[in-house]
Amino acid sequence: MTTHTRTFAVIPAAGIGARMSAALPKQYLPFAGAPLLVRTLSRLLRVGWIERCYVVLAPDDRYWDTLVTPHLAQLPPAFAVAERLRVVRLGGTTRAHSVRAGLRVAHAEGFGDDDWALVHDAARPCLTPETIEHLHGSVGNSNVGGLIAIPATDTVKVATPHTSPNSFPVVERTVPRERIWLAQTPQLFRLAVLRQALDRFPDATDEASAVERLGLQPILVKGHWSNLKVTLPGDLELAQAIWSLQEDSLSDVG
Ligand code: CTP
Ligand code: MG
Repeated sequence: MTTHTRTFAVIPAAGIGARMSAALPKQYLPFAGAPLLVRTLSRLLRVGWIERCYVVLAPDDRYWDTLVTPHLAQLPPAFAVAERLRVVRLGGTTRAHSVRAGLRVAHAEGFGDDDWALVHDAARPCLTPETIEHLHGSVGNSNVGGLIAIPATDTVKVATPHTSPNSFPVVERTVPRERIWLAQTPQLFRLAVLRQALDRFPDATDEASAVERLGLQPILVKGHWSNLKVTLPGDLELAQAIWSLQEDSLSDVG
């Protein structure tokens, strides 16, 4: 990493959490005594070299002010929330749209083409500072960037196209898993590269796949399954257990 580059984070939090089937979007569900989004943001704010965190909400978000704002005052002074946290109410109908909105605001606020954009799902509260440091250190001076991912450990099956909702899927074939990696976030890319990629490929489901479609090769940095994305109802309890264990070993800040 060259010393003149800066890093900011974009946290897309404009989804509705349809698969969670809850009364609130999942990023606002209670998680160890605070909205899940507060827990995710705390893990990013702990890392001092992340200059700013742009959290991207739906334009009609009804929950941030009432549910999140009261908790922000309770975060450690060292997190410098007032200086570092920005709320961007410009989320879109897809994740890529929401991320693009965050990048646009970061660029307008002075981040440059070579600066680093660290994109992290609001729904992954168990991200550790070690993982962030590992990604940052591994991507180093790359002109492109990279992502946290985990090498597949289970045997990977491809199912036949599902024809009837009432029948079990069946296996079409087994894929050698040696080269299979499961993508997570954070994903860290040069701002100009990521803006160009998402502008051209707004249907991409993660940043890396848009960057790949530019013909570039993001670096795969080994992460851990504990950085799970809260997606289905049962995930919440598991993530809270992991998060609590991690908190016990995180050093005090502030
Ligand atoms: N996200 C977003 N804007 C969207 C869709 C998703 O900012 N239009 C965010 C979500 O809030 C989440 C992250 O992208 O933090 C990962 O997306 P996902 O887990 O798919 O969340 P949802 O889209 O909310 O969930 P679902 O797909 O079950 O509806
Ligand atoms: Mg989604």
